[in-house]
Amino acid sequence: MDLENLLTDRLAPAFATVAGVPVDPVVRRSQRADFQSDAALALARRLGRPPRDIAAQVLEHAELADLCSRAEVSGPGFLNLTVADRTLAGLITALAADRRLGVPVTAEPETVVVDYSAPNVAKEMHVGHLRSTVIGDAAARLLEWLGHRVVRANHLGDWGTPFGMLIEHLADLGEAEAAQELSMGDLDSFYKTARAKFDADEAFAERSRRRVVALQGGDPVTRRLWRLLVEQSERYFMTVYDMLDVTLTERDFHGESSYNDLLGPVVEELDRLGLVRESGGAACVFPPGVIGRDGEPLPLIVRKSDRGYGYAATDLAAIRQRTGALGATRLLYVVGLPQRRHFEMVYAVAAQAGWLAPPTRAEHVGFGSILGSDGRMLRSRAGGSVKLVGLLEEAISRATALARERNPELGAAEAAEVGRAVGIGAIKYADLSNDRHRDYVLDWERMLALDGNTAPYLQYAYSRIRSIFRRAGLAARLDAAVSLAEPAERALAFELVGFGRVVGEVADNLEFHHLAGHLYRLAAAFSTFYERCPVLRAEGPVRESRLVLCDLTARMLEQGLYLLGIRTPERL
Ligand code: ARG
Repeated sequence: MDLENLLTDRLAPAFATVAGVPVDPVVRRSQRADFQSDAALALARRLGRPPRDIAAQVLEHAELADLCSRAEVSGPGFLNLTVADRTLAGLITALAADRRLGVPVTAEPETVVVDYSAPNVAKEMHVGHLRSTVIGDAAARLLEWLGHRVVRANHLGDWGTPFGMLIEHLADLGEAEAAQELSMGDLDSFYKTARAKFDADEAFAERSRRRVVALQGGDPVTRRLWRLLVEQSERYFMTVYDMLDVTLTERDFHGESSYNDLLGPVVEELDRLGLVRESGGAACVFPPGVIGRDGEPLPLIVRKSDRGYGYAATDLAAIRQRTGALGATRLLYVVGLPQRRHFEMVYAVAAQAGWLAPPTRAEHVGFGSILGSDGRMLRSRAGGSVKLVGLLEEAISRATALARERNPELGAAEAAEVGRAVGIGAIKYADLSNDRHRDYVLDWERMLALDGNTAPYLQYAYSRIRSIFRRAGLAARLDAAVSLAEPAERALAFELVGFGRVVGEVADNLEFHHLAGHLYRLAAAFSTFYERCPVLRAEGPVRESRLVLCDLTARMLEQGLYLLGIRTPERL
């Protein structure tokens, strides 16, 4: 249990006695003491008594002697709590012996679907897909580590009217030629050429429209050409995932097309439930409370006027399948914020239909854009969208150059491996260390900097600790007695003890910048500790105790970075 909870458990009964009703003591880390509670201030207004009196009375009733070396009233009525060295040392000892670093496996395992990445066939992945892939992968890793059953759902865009023109273009090019172009990752030019032909050439456009009908009707030749497009794209996306070092596999592609057979029944069921209304020839559901700018109710189109099904119907079918056949109780959608409305409506309709009922819930894990240094949407020099692979290659080559420069002894193979870990780590960390709701600026210098809140800084802290053990010829020590006398030791210990709490919160809110921030504070506290407290030059039990702190810090950095999808090379 973390210290906030331990202290809360002791203060809450005392507050309740004084107030006569339950009170949340609101225990927080503080600059003045180790922890502070300001609950007496709010309570004073309610009880009409001086806050300092209330605080003093709470202290009389609270059993803190075994946890705190000091507990006092300060200022207008704060409770300042100083944790006893012995208590803190005991927590560190327990943590050091715990392979899970104070993060228990969940007592209530759930099946969680993480819908992420989801690029579109025959289209280049853009930076929005990068964010989805990085955030979604962190969510999958974290929830899996906590003991949940995670289903990775890569909701590939592999269906819809554009496939008519794509297949026609493929047929024009010849299969071999097209496969060649697509496998090189020339997805954008393939798509654009098809689009240009569609716009300029009426005969081509007509053929394309007939192709859509053939595709939907299951014409074998058309289906085979479509499969070719899908497979080539999947293969290409897999190379990107490989480079990005994410946990998605071929088995995680659950393309939109896989829901085709469910679309009809889904709309029929909505209709049977009396939820469908005709509007302009289209079948619509108007979820209650969803109002457009003009004040009119907004429709979710579940079947278009041409009787085709679109994005919304597919998402409804996916929900039904995920909460039904898959038995999921938590659905995460890691998709950019512009699609917020879409998901709100889809969830509302699914709830109306009874496919999404508490305790099962769906959450839109939305995110902002990546901006260029000019503060505008990231664009290539030519003004087009930035090719993801190019971005990753640039990260790796910059990081490899840095690694070579810093450590000329690294062999070529090791430099390449370090460059990959650092470059990809930097990209992921820049994303995850920012509040996902906001846009952020892609800044190479900053994300590759060795100090500051960056992946290289954390990776460096990790490798530095490992080198301490290497230099001393020591294996990690787990069982030495811990003693904490120096302020820098205590500060580090508080960060170590706080890990479990942060991980638990992030599992709920999927705001990975809190985990990143915690790792950063941990590494910074380590660095101060290492400056002020000799480790290998210390003697006897002090040396042993400090080695425990070192090893624990390294393990926590390693695990924390793993959860963010970032590697920790042993030497940088
Ligand atoms: N393919 C979509 C896009 O590129 C994202 C799909 C997100 N997932 C979902 N279930 N709708 O915008």
